[in-house]
Amino acid sequence: MTIDISTATADDAVALAACAAVTFPLACPAGSRPEDIRRHIETHLSAERFAALADLPGHTILCLREQGGIVGWSMIVLDQPTDADVLSALSISPVVELSKFYVHPGHHGRGSAAALMTATLDLAAASGLPGVWLGVNQENARAIRFYGKHGFQRVGTKRFRLGDRFEDDFILQQALPAGVGSAA
Ligand SMILES: CC(C)(COP(=O)(O)OP(=O)(O)OC[C@H]1O[C@@H](n2cnc3c(N)ncnc32)[C@H](O)[C@@H]1OP(=O)(O)O)[C@@H](O)C(=O)NCCC(=O)NCCS
Repeated sequence: MTIDISTATADDAVALAACAAVTFPLACPAGSRPEDIRRHIETHLSAERFAALADLPGHTILCLREQGGIVGWSMIVLDQPTDADVLSALSISPVVELSKFYVHPGHHGRGSAAALMTATLDLAAASGLPGVWLGVNQENARAIRFYGKHGFQRVGTKRFRLGDRFEDDFILQQALPAGVGSAA
């Protein structure tokens, strides 16, 4: 198995949408309504949306590729948080947001996610910013364990809107090594 990790372009949009349609539901809590999940995928994870994100300043998508297909993806965002709960929880500023992190279930537990996380943290550090944060659903025990193994610490809570319901997230952060890059 040859894994390759590289930045997405607009040409990856259709494959990213296909991967996202499989992996986003895995991050949702058990009580999520299927119609809310479907609407979120159609609205926020469509091929059109990925094509736009690929060219959006301050946003970088990394693709985990195997044999030409996309089996995972992450996205970092350089925009600073505005959510009051996030701002009060973080002790590092300014920060990179690890906005998305998804790996196809066929690759869970095989080290692929670790490789994608290493590349994603390297990219975050290359921004020159001193920290990185993310939100993860409080019921997503596997992801919470995974992020903990990769240096993230829980610093607070926030709410995530899915349809007309609010879900509870943990806010995690970690410091990034200094002197790796200059602010993008
Ligand atoms: C989160 C994700 C990227 C992690 O990748 P992975 O390959 O599954 O990660 P790993 O196997 O390296 O680590 C998962 C850890 O959680 C543990 N784990 C698995 N299921 C668990 C559960 N139900 N409760 C607690 N821990 C669990 C594993 O044993 C492992 O820990 P260990 O290495 O100490 O044994 C991947 O599972 C994924 O893409 N999930 C779906 C999308 C998602 O939830 N993304 C995060 C959105 S914020």
